[in-house]
Amino acid sequence: MYDVYEIRKDFPVLEKVIYLDNGATTQTPKPAIDAMNDFFYNYAANYGRGAHRLSIEATNAFEDARETVAGFLNAPPEKMIMTRNTTESINVIANGFGFEKGDHVITTLVEHHSNFVPWLRQKDIGVDVSVADISREGFTDPDQIEQMITEKTKLIAVGHVSNVFGSVQDVQKIIRIAKKNDVKVLIDGAQSAGHMPVDLKELDCDYFAAAGHKGLLGPQGTGILYIKDPDTVEPSYLGGGTTADADACGFVTKGSPEKFEAGTPNIPGVIGLGAAVSYLQKIGVSDIEAHETGLARMVAKRLKEMGGVEVYGPEKRTGLVSFSVAGLEPHQVAIRLDKYKKICVRSGYHCAIPGQKKLGINGSSRASFALYNTTEEAEIFIEAVEAIQN
Ligand code: ALA
Repeated sequence: MYDVYEIRKDFPVLEKVIYLDNGATTQTPKPAIDAMNDFFYNYAANYGRGAHRLSIEATNAFEDARETVAGFLNAPPEKMIMTRNTTESINVIANGFGFEKGDHVITTLVEHHSNFVPWLRQKDIGVDVSVADISREGFTDPDQIEQMITEKTKLIAVGHVSNVFGSVQDVQKIIRIAKKNDVKVLIDGAQSAGHMPVDLKELDCDYFAAAGHKGLLGPQGTGILYIKDPDTVEPSYLGGGTTADADACGFVTKGSPEKFEAGTPNIPGVIGLGAAVSYLQKIGVSDIEAHETGLARMVAKRLKEMGGVEVYGPEKRTGLVSFSVAGLEPHQVAIRLDKYKKICVRSGYHCAIPGQKKLGINGSSRASFALYNTTEEAEIFIEAVEAIQN
């Protein structure tokens, strides 16, 4: 197991606050910030667009970062698209899948809006959308998904880990069911990548979307999209970077990954993401998972024992704990925790209204842990939840 106090030196902001909003965005370690500074100070130039030395250096650094991220998730680099965030990644599939009137898509009530609304919008072109249910602990049932499959079903879109409940879905079973029925599967890995081992070769889903700025510790404005068969997806944007040839009669689009990366990409961000993922790899994602889940499960247990607090999600949760405090609105809880001990938690619906609406949960506050949080921080947090009730 790594030394949490040692790695905290790479995250200076942690000296100022108790940061428990890692489900929204994690902090970025110094080596990743150094890598971005190095780009700006020493070789800032455009990607893939020049023969001069700086452009070549920038292009190589970008491609090295892609390789690092692809390697971390065990996928071929040419199938690993760099995007702005998970939301964009999912929308690239929603827009480029080529849905037709009468097609059928299955998603679930557990989803974040990013893996829900883009599918609902397909109804505008006559796609049928079925929504699988959510259990009290934030699970979807693969058997229910199987029963929803018809001969028109083209895609199942499901989140790996709920950002509200910390429940890990049985995506392996869902993928097995989908394959048996010749249906494609998109996994929203926003809350899993970097928080638990993810092996895309083993998982064998068709699409995997994740953010750079959450478990992967990269900067905001970075995201990833794995596409198993990129030739079957139409690019959402066209222009510089995507075009192999063009004249007045038409154009020829490049292959993957270029065809999905129109315009100048977030070059410093992707380089920072690559460095952040290297940093993660050195620490070890299994140890990170054990550390985060250990803290979250301890906190969930202690909050449950406290009067006036309701905790959501299963016992076997990932590193996040959503909870309500009797008599206080979720935002009041967050403001009081901040004022009391500079504790940063998220509050509200966490961009996942459908499941909470179904379960009658009126929003919540959420503490989400990362590799650098300590047991002392967790203890202060527990004490603070008790104190703000008085
Ligand atoms: N989806 C992010 C969260 O759950 C923003 O906080």
